[in-house]
Amino acid sequence: MRKFAFILHPLQPKDLARKYPFVRFLPDFLIEKYSATASPKIASHITGIRSKTGEEIEGYFIGLPLIPRQMIKDIPLPVVYDKLAKCAEMASDLGAELIGLGAFTSVVGDGGRTVRSRTNIGVTTGNSYTVATAIDGTLKACALLGIEPSNSTLAVVGATGSIGRTCAEVLAKEFGRVILVGRDLERTEAIAAEIPGAIASSNVADIAHADAVVTVTSADTEVILPHHLRQGAIVCDVARPRDVSVRVAKERPDVLVIEGGVVRVPGDVEFNFEFGFPKKTAYACMSETMMLALEGDPSKYDFTLGKEVSVPQVEEMRLLALKHGFELAGFRSFERAVGKDSIDRAKKARLMAHSIPRDAAASLR
Ligand SMILES: NC(=O)c1ccc[n+]([C@@H]2O[C@H](COP(=O)([O-])OP(=O)(O)OC[C@H]3O[C@@H](n4cnc5c(N)ncnc54)[C@H](OP(=O)(O)O)[C@@H]3O)[C@@H](O)[C@H]2O)c1
Repeated sequence: MRKFAFILHPLQPKDLARKYPFVRFLPDFLIEKYSATASPKIASHITGIRSKTGEEIEGYFIGLPLIPRQMIKDIPLPVVYDKLAKCAEMASDLGAELIGLGAFTSVVGDGGRTVRSRTNIGVTTGNSYTVATAIDGTLKACALLGIEPSNSTLAVVGATGSIGRTCAEVLAKEFGRVILVGRDLERTEAIAAEIPGAIASSNVADIAHADAVVTVTSADTEVILPHHLRQGAIVCDVARPRDVSVRVAKERPDVLVIEGGVVRVPGDVEFNFEFGFPKKTAYACMSETMMLALEGDPSKYDFTLGKEVSVPQVEEMRLLALKHGFELAGFRSFERAVGKDSIDRAKKARLMAHSIPRDAAASLR
């Protein structure tokens, strides 16, 4: 049976307790000190993935015990590359034909190119299918709340990034107005210039004008706070760690925040590792790696390599998902399923915001 591998890493030090329960009793600084020098490990054997076509595959999660800050700030890039190359070597020894780069292992450096140059197996970031699911999830959430994209404003936060830029390019065709938010105004303006009708901003407060927000930065701290959001807005948070503050869940019940990229995997899949999702569901980037393994075409294994994601790549992944039976799972928000009550509340808040002056509507919250 064909095999794949996928690299996971903790988003915060205590996440390592999912594999090593004693870790929850240690202070973060000690966990980080240990994890900075620890080697990657096989985290689990994944079984039961079965495509609609009947094809079956198996895989492995490989755990790299570094948190985002260690990868992008604390540890020199060549050392991080060495660790990623080690993960690829382990995957190859296990018989995997390709490896997917989870979360910050694709953000750091050159989006997998260096890792690919140091291994004989395929490498994908998984960002093409991540873009597809972010787009589909955003449009589906808009439909649920009665947001008509062509009459509405979209904001993309992290619009200069690999995922954000392509989300903006595709979604701009659907929405009436588009605000691109990036840290570097000049680079954000250069991207806005290529997207008809888009305007650039370096101020996250400008998302207050948006009915729908896609946020996908590689910040290792919260970027979107409760006061930033418009009444009755939807936010698709693709970033890991999350961009949206957990305070939004408590303080802004009028807003619908959904996690981007939660995918139902076909077959009777057992991940044998707890990464915070319901059974038989996975991140979109994991799903891309699985779909490429199901296809079994080595010429496509490096499907999303580097920082660019093109619209044809996104479309091709969407077709592969249809072929193999991968689909968006139900919405989740802050690690819980989104219920009808949350949707109804946001819908009502939106209706009120649009039928009475905004100041008055705000006082009804
Ligand atoms: N849900 C999923 O299935 C999935 C899959 C893959 C990745 N992800 C997550 O998606 C996120 C982005 O990935 P990517 O590959 O698009 O990364 P990327 O290419 O590095 O882009 C990141 C973007 O975030 C911006 N940024 C970085 N730090 C920031 C800060 N402190 N405040 C505001 N903006 C900041 C960057 O701006 P500059 O250009 O100015 O640096 C850039 O626009 C990551 O959190 C990653 O873990 C999720």
